[in-house]
Order: sequence, then C-alpha cells, then structure tokens
Amino acid sequence: MIKGFIFDLDGVITDTAEQHFLAWKKLSDEMGWEFDREVNENLRGISRMDSLRFILDHNEISLDDETLVELATKKNVVYQDLLNDITPEDFLPGAKEILTHLRTEGFHVALGSSSKNAQKVLEQLSATGYFDVVGDGHSVTKSKPNPAIFLFGAEKLGLQPEECIVFEDAEKGIDAAKNGGFYSVGIGPYERVGHAHLRFDTMAEATLFEIKSYFKDLF
Ligand code: BG6
Ligand code: MG
Ligand code: MG
Repeated sequence: MIKGFIFDLDGVITDTAEQHFLAWKKLSDEMGWEFDREVNENLRGISRMDSLRFILDHNEISLDDETLVELATKKNVVYQDLLNDITPEDFLPGAKEILTHLRTEGFHVALGSSSKNAQKVLEQLSATGYFDVVGDGHSVTKSKPNPAIFLFGAEKLGLQPEECIVFEDAEKGIDAAKNGGFYSVGIGPYERVGHAHLRFDTMAEATLFEIKSYFKDLF
C-alpha cells in the first residue's frame, strides 16, 4: 500500500538548474574553465562537491581538497544570492497542485533533496508546510545514486520503501530510488529518467489521478 511520497526538490518542485548553471558559469569564467549548459545537465541531482569534481574532470584539472572546498563555497555564495529572487510563483507547473492534493488525501510527504540549500528554497517558495519531513544535503553523507536520502525520508515518515513513491528528475535520483526499493516517478525525457517505474515529461502531467491509475494495485 502506498502511504507516502518523497519529492526531490530541484527540477521537481522548482527549477533551480538555471541558478546552479549561472553560479557555476560565473566561477568557471573566473577560473578560465570550460563550462556550458550541456556540462551543467550532468550536475542534476549530484552534490556540490561532486559537481565541482565533474567540472574539473571535464577540464582535466586536479586541485587539492582545500582549494576544492574554497571554490565550492565561492560558487555557493553566488547561488544563494540568486535564490533570493525565488518567489511562491516559482513552483514548477503542477507541483503545488499535487502537493496540495496529497495533503487533502492524508498522504505522508517528505522532501529528499541533495541540496544543502533546500530549506532556503522551500522558504522562498513558501512550501515548507507541504512536507512532514525535510531530508536535504545535511541529512545524510552518501549522495544519489545511493538511496540514503530516500531511506532517511521513509524512516522519518515511519514507512517502508515499498510504501513510498519517489519523484525525481535526475538519472541518478531514479537509480537511488530503485536501489532503495522505492517506486519511482521520473520527471523529464526518456533518455534521462526512462528507467523510472512511471515517467512524465513535466510535473503538470504528474497528477495524483494519473499516478493512482498507473499504480492501481498499490492504492
Ligand atoms: C541538487 C541539484 O538538488 O542539489 C544539484 O540537482 C546540486 O545540481 C545539488 O548540485 C547540491 O546543491 P547545493 O545547494 O547543496 O549546492
Ligand atoms: Mg533534481
Ligand atoms: Mg535534488
């Protein structure tokens, strides 16, 4: 029986990929690294440090740990500044609707984000009230595709993985959900999240009605 839902944040509830892109681009330009939107796509769902490592690998650069932390912090200062412009108008179409619907129907709801800025993003959106549990980049140490963040959410909700549906827009996020024994809903193109149990192009199509119709034996 499905009793709970766990949502990724960036790319599911709101689209912060653009702000991440702008912040990494600023750092990359300052450092003389190559970085574009195509490279940025690979950072979906992975932690800040893993993102930095990806950009450095792409540029065939290696740096010591202290410098890595310094540069990741520098990017984060720019990113946090951009987050100040997020408003309650910035839910992805459909996201607020399904969160409201889940509340009305009494489902348990958790956030399962890799971001250490998740609380800030939720506050900017005025979305904190939709979640019984907030799991973010501070909650666990292992990042997606490890299922730790979703297992954290399920445990805090008092549910087993097979009682939860995970919403994710990242390839590694769907891997994480499946690795943890969760049902998964992928948001985005087939090439990215086609391995989810159920996939929609956008959140606007991911209604509770559609989900219940697909997973009908589980409700
Ligand atoms: C994820 C994003 O939600 O959070 C990634 O999809 C990002 O792109 C990661 O790297 C970490 O975010 P933050 O806010 O901790 O730097
Ligand atoms: Mg995401
Ligand atoms: Mg995320």
